[in-house]
Amino acid sequence: MDINQIDIQTIVSKVMASLNENPKTQTSPATEVPKRAKVAVLTQKEKIEIKEFEIPEINDDEVLVKVEGCGVCGTDVHEYKNDPFNLIPVVLGHEGTGTIVKIGKNIKHDIMSQPLNVGDKIVTSVTITKEDTFSKMHPEKANLSDHMEVYGLLPDDAYRFNGWFGEYIILRKDSSIFKVNDMSLKERLLIEPAAVTIHAVERAKTTGLLKFNSMVLVQGCGPIGLMLLSVLRTMGIENILAVDGDEQRLQMAKRLGAKYTFNFKEFNNFEVMLGAIHKTTNGGVDFAFQCTGVPSAASSIYKMVRRGGGLCEVGFFVDNGDATINPHFDLCQKEITVVGSWVYTFADYATTLDFIRRAKGIGLPIETLVTHEFGLEALNEAMQVNMRLEGIKVAFVNK
Ligand SMILES: NC(=O)c1ccc[n+]([C@@H]2O[C@H](COP(=O)([O-])OP(=O)(O)OC[C@H]3O[C@@H](n4cnc5c(N)ncnc54)[C@H](O)[C@@H]3O)[C@@H](O)[C@H]2O)c1
Repeated sequence: MDINQIDIQTIVSKVMASLNENPKTQTSPATEVPKRAKVAVLTQKEKIEIKEFEIPEINDDEVLVKVEGCGVCGTDVHEYKNDPFNLIPVVLGHEGTGTIVKIGKNIKHDIMSQPLNVGDKIVTSVTITKEDTFSKMHPEKANLSDHMEVYGLLPDDAYRFNGWFGEYIILRKDSSIFKVNDMSLKERLLIEPAAVTIHAVERAKTTGLLKFNSMVLVQGCGPIGLMLLSVLRTMGIENILAVDGDEQRLQMAKRLGAKYTFNFKEFNNFEVMLGAIHKTTNGGVDFAFQCTGVPSAASSIYKMVRRGGGLCEVGFFVDNGDATINPHFDLCQKEITVVGSWVYTFADYATTLDFIRRAKGIGLPIETLVTHEFGLEALNEAMQVNMRLEGIKVAFVNK
């Protein structure tokens, strides 16, 4: 082969790369993709076992991702404890991120039209598997579709590798992939829970009651409440009250910019705390976010909202039972506007990426929300730590 031939080949490959064409399935040159890989399977309640399977050949519409890590969500813990979604055996993990190691030739771009290639760092949002009457009539409400799926909450199948708690995951046809090469691993691990809170804030904004100088309550300072508080801060909202019974979480709320914190365990009863909140807010907050999943909290939050104020219910992704309110005092007499919030849309993901960059820009230490990291083999321990409410965001990280 002479020099001229080499030059032409180099030029052709550079042009192909610049066009971001995937002439055929690309495989990572740097990372040798193994034939087999491990996944963490929830085989029975409170038992995760590590199993090894052959990695199938991906087709032209699929992407093989080497998992870098995945947050452990409260929903994973519910599934681990009680299997409410009837999924066992299942590979859990839906807050994941990783690096593309193989990409089918039909996948050229992420959902925001950015070119996708082997080596890119990505996250995924929901997948709408089928367009039904509801989604045709209400395209803006794709998050409420019956045919919405999330990796990590899918039944096991012959293909395996459909949850993020493993060494590899295969992203199937029509996945919503977002390229996030500019973000640290911790930032990427927080994208999914952050999207939940972005959606909640978008829902709150529809009431017209969430304003620059609003007095806002965040009830529950787990990962969801703390992330929500951070979103409010990036919107310039400074008058934030945070309520929880865990001092460590309230300290984090302060670090993220809560102006007032209330530890409900330090008050003799709810009425005393309510009195303190009414005094601080001159009769109740303008808007409140319920982020606990606890029925008694879902009932009591109405009392903390002022007349004519608003409320967003975020905390009940899982059915934790009924919560009673007094329609006379809580709704009619006060004319409170209530909205519910369910997961997120693709558009919320795009906003979330902006939020994470903006949080960094104003110096909010959101990465410190990731307090624990466990390897694949230690996922049972990760679940237990989460159940004991130790730390804040517990994550699985492939070491
Ligand atoms: N709407 C959605 O789409 C969606 C999505 C994800 C999660 N969620 C839900 O959001 C909730 C919060 O998630 P998380 O991961 O932060 O959970 P978490 O359990 O880590 O945090 C809940 C917090 O609420 C606090 N709390 C309990 N009772 C309280 C009370 N009476 N007053 C104030 N605080 C109280 C707890 O101490 C804890 O810190 C969960 O129930 C989860 O199911 C909803």
